[in-house]
Amino acid sequence: GRVLSVASECVPLVKSGGLADVTGALPGALAAQEWQMAVLLPGYRGLAARIARPAEVMRIDDLFGGPARILSGRAEGSEAWILLLEAPHLYDRPGGPYLDETGQDHSDNPERFGALCLAAALIARDGLADGWRPDLVHAHDWQGGLVPAYLRMHAPGTASVLTIHNIAFQGLAPASRLHPLRLDPRDFYPGGPLEFHGQIGALKAGLVMADRVTTVSPRYAAELALPEFGMGLEGVIAALPDPVAGILNGIDKAAWDPARDPAIRPYSARAKKGRAANRALLFGEYGLEDGHGPVLGIVSRMTRQKGLDLVPGVVAPLLERGLRLAVLGSGDAELERAFEALAAAHPGKVGLKQGYDEALSHRIYAGADALLVPSRFEPCGLTQLYALRYGAVPVVAPTGGLSDTVIPASPAALGAGVATGVMLPRVDAGGLSLALSQLCDLYEDPAAWRRIQANGMAADFGWDRSAAAYAALYHGLTGGAD
Ligand code: ADP
Ligand code: GLC
Repeated sequence: GRVLSVASECVPLVKSGGLADVTGALPGALAAQEWQMAVLLPGYRGLAARIARPAEVMRIDDLFGGPARILSGRAEGSEAWILLLEAPHLYDRPGGPYLDETGQDHSDNPERFGALCLAAALIARDGLADGWRPDLVHAHDWQGGLVPAYLRMHAPGTASVLTIHNIAFQGLAPASRLHPLRLDPRDFYPGGPLEFHGQIGALKAGLVMADRVTTVSPRYAAELALPEFGMGLEGVIAALPDPVAGILNGIDKAAWDPARDPAIRPYSARAKKGRAANRALLFGEYGLEDGHGPVLGIVSRMTRQKGLDLVPGVVAPLLERGLRLAVLGSGDAELERAFEALAAAHPGKVGLKQGYDEALSHRIYAGADALLVPSRFEPCGLTQLYALRYGAVPVVAPTGGLSDTVIPASPAALGAGVATGVMLPRVDAGGLSLALSQLCDLYEDPAAWRRIQANGMAADFGWDRSAAAYAALYHGLTGGAD
């Protein structure tokens, strides 16, 4: 079958988090399931130059105030087939995919991502210049939320799937944007498909109008029904005719392989010497002094979701025990300041690098003894999966995909020899402190530590099983296309 994936980011072209890893890996994973996937992506500034031999496959005379065209090609250094929506009035500007140079949302984000969704529906209606037309459109997060609404208007026969990666961002816009977005005003009324608390709700619209809703782990699919996780949409989700399907993200095992990763000294579960070299290099890079305890890495967006605000308040006694911190992250200014202060207060014990650095993230997974992910909510989480594969023991919150992918070192799991990580009993200062103490205890028991690390490196989080689950879902929605 043929499927069009609609997303705001995709590796290797543009990435702010795990969504890009997932949309970049899905086409290859689904090809093995006989589904040909194209990824429709906004043509942010500079991206067109990074598409190899681009071909124009569609023109749109007026897409919300300017002309647009779709370029088809492979992204440099990748096999994935990209459809780039070039619309300079919407995307050719400074700043990031979501925020302008001053850190504010681009004021026309409803139009920028609405245009992406409308273009997807036009592809479903008219097909590309070479006749390619999708059997199904798979949209991601609020930026793809209006796909089912536009499909209903322009290509009502085409099936749709919406995947929730982060429900905290809901794509709200004032009702006055209905007309500029060329949405059907008959769908906007209290409780109607486009309406959410008096505004246009792109994510809500996607939830109620898609043929099927999925999210990225079974545990998070269940959590979404609870108010503390549903973020106001729990009622909408509870009323859906089909339950949200929880399909766990995989990792790209070729791109994330410690034996073949060009960013690190190679090693494997059987030949772990290279890992010690990576650890030593990380000490140097972060200016850390050995305290004979574990080096704990952090690779994260710095937002409340990730629970990192708890770290500065609890680590001091653990640093005395020999724990060391190597932090890579960027995000909320307040959190960045808190980590700057922490590093300044504990030179040689806490190292901090701010910003976004793909290669450094690999060096942390390869060189740290453990990786901390104390999230308040985590739909799936990829960093703990990379850590497992690279032999960094994950220390995670008991939520979402973290719960679904890490086997905590309880006495039962240790006795059975199956533990792969450490789990906070709860996400607060006390819970974090207990988990970090347990980490230090385990590190002081070399036999237990080796076993946990080996178990994690042997765990298989490739895409095979999840790609088969998506394929089965697509198959069911397209009346058997495959
Ligand atoms: P989220 O998508 O919520 O940020 P995930 O764990 O799913 O969380 O994915 C995060 C992705 O972003 C991983 O690939 C991780 O390695 C990467 N990442 C996060 N912060 C940084 C950073 N500062 N530098 C480099 N990579 C980062
Ligand atoms: C979101 C979630 C993260 C998930 C990623 C990819 O950014 O926060 O948990 O792994 O999407 O699905």
